[in-house]
Amino acid sequence: MCGIIGITSLPNNLREPIGKVVRRCLERLEYRGYDSVGIAVIKGNSIEVRKGKGKIVEVNARLNFDEVSGTTAIGHTRWATHGKPSDENAHPHTDCTGSVAVVHNGIISNFLELKEELIRKGHVFKSETDTEVVAHLIEEYLRLGYKPFDAFKAALSRLKGAYAFVVAIAQEPNRLYFARNTSPLVIGIGNGANFVASDIPAFLEFTNMVIVLRDGEYGYIEPGKVYIEKDGVPVNVEERIRLISWTPEMASKEGYPHFMLKEIHEQPFAISSTLAGINEREFDNVVNLLLNSRRVLIIGAGTSYHAGLIGDYLLTTMLGLDIHAVISSEYKKYVNTINEDDAVIAISQSGETIDTLVAVRAFKERGAKVVAVSNVIDSAIPRESNYVLYTRAGPEIGVAATKTFTTQLVILTILTLRAGIAMGRLDQGEYRNLMDSLNKAPGLLQNVIARTEGRVKALSEYMKSRNNAYYLGRGIGVPLSMEGALKLKEIAYIHAEAYPAGESKHGPIALVEEGYPVVFSILDDDNVDALLGNVMEMKARDAYTIGFVPEKYVGKFRELLSVTFELPNIDYRIAPIIYIVPMQLLAYYTAVARGYDPDKPRNLAKTVTVE
Ligand code: F6R
Repeated sequence: MCGIIGITSLPNNLREPIGKVVRRCLERLEYRGYDSVGIAVIKGNSIEVRKGKGKIVEVNARLNFDEVSGTTAIGHTRWATHGKPSDENAHPHTDCTGSVAVVHNGIISNFLELKEELIRKGHVFKSETDTEVVAHLIEEYLRLGYKPFDAFKAALSRLKGAYAFVVAIAQEPNRLYFARNTSPLVIGIGNGANFVASDIPAFLEFTNMVIVLRDGEYGYIEPGKVYIEKDGVPVNVEERIRLISWTPEMASKEGYPHFMLKEIHEQPFAISSTLAGINEREFDNVVNLLLNSRRVLIIGAGTSYHAGLIGDYLLTTMLGLDIHAVISSEYKKYVNTINEDDAVIAISQSGETIDTLVAVRAFKERGAKVVAVSNVIDSAIPRESNYVLYTRAGPEIGVAATKTFTTQLVILTILTLRAGIAMGRLDQGEYRNLMDSLNKAPGLLQNVIARTEGRVKALSEYMKSRNNAYYLGRGIGVPLSMEGALKLKEIAYIHAEAYPAGESKHGPIALVEEGYPVVFSILDDDNVDALLGNVMEMKARDAYTIGFVPEKYVGKFRELLSVTFELPNIDYRIAPIIYIVPMQLLAYYTAVARGYDPDKPRNLAKTVTVE
């Protein structure tokens, strides 16, 4: 996945060495990859490169990026695809002369044939990466007498695959070239400095004026200029500038030890902002689409899929629509059954997840209308969709999705409620009650965090030495449990499995023995008695039973639970927005207790731009 950054600045404009600025920008992209890191700074007629294997803090301690001065620089934090993490495979990659440096996110699928061709022409490669061919290709065209921009374009025309690049060429010390095809790339327009990066938080400290690049676009930045082209035709840059409401604080930890903890705590605010940003007309356009569709698919990956399952539950049970939530990468099962009478809701916090994007394109090709639910304005999935509903969670930097999940649930709930009114399946009274509950969610959540955090932390001392856990629920509690289990698995590296509690006796209970943690999500619905039976079954096998329980049922469950968390009595259809939060905290504190960094889980990157 990888994070890339490029900066061109007027002299003395940054007030600190450019290496230090690049390092800070990269730290905000570290969620995209963190197995190696490097920077390249144009120095006169050459380029200084410092790079190595390890996290930014480790490599900076060894190589001191912070001392490197200059006005034009690129940087990269890597998530290995071609070539193992090593000093040689770290980006930037250079040509034979050391005067072309490239950082890249994505995969060049035809790199082997290009590499063979370049080796035949005498180029010497220093790494195993696909990226290095780009530096040598540009060198080759420069050697043939092409001007730098022409050499860059000629090299691009030879590449196949998914990519976002930033390229520094020493003979043009104030300019950086960039290109996007599938992998995300955003331009930041600053004062006396311009930026190009994989994601907005990288440069948010300097500017909130952005242009989100589209597939097939390429061009260059200079300190006072942005130039973009597509298929040889210049793009009107002014028209594409967006002012985003994110602040620099949102992209910093603000005293929290990790972004994930900060983002968990931000949820009351993120939910309020999403509620405040609801545009009824936009929702009603989508409602109209859904009600006039033959069937509706909801697609998403990981946490966004879990939000989709909850949306599916709400729309199916409350409105009786023909809905299916589908994992994005499994879209092929449905693609031939879809036509122009159908609608697809594509959920993606980043708006760039390739699995979801590919599915959106396939469904659109069949004629379906697509509604994007995303947190990133102008990102690829919203842009390619017919309608967009934005969450307003602010930037999410921790790899594990937290505040974007709860705000996705807010959007899907409001969509269901408004559709319910339009269909006459909900009366005004019920609509108002549910909207009231939703509006109370931020306040209740604030309380839940304050009341449960200390006890969750204590529970993590038990969880930290476990190898497995089950997360069980019924009804809407099933996707809620799936999300709880995913959090524990991905950051605390404990094998956690979620399934409908009714399935216990059909196999999984065979694994349960003394002390085995089983986490129950109990909601105020018609599953309470059945769940009581399931808790008893687990207790009878000496499981360590943990329950998230509405206050009014605590008396019923307390004796059977090893640990009970009393949560507010709230309509079960709204409850997942609140009940997931102590589970997020449990995953967080367990990861920390096991000595892991929750912001940088191994093998994972936040925005997955390879299939
Ligand atoms: C889990 C997590 C991932 C993402 C998934 C989809 O905590 O963050 O499972 O939910 O990669 O990402 P988006 O929503 O950006 O499409």
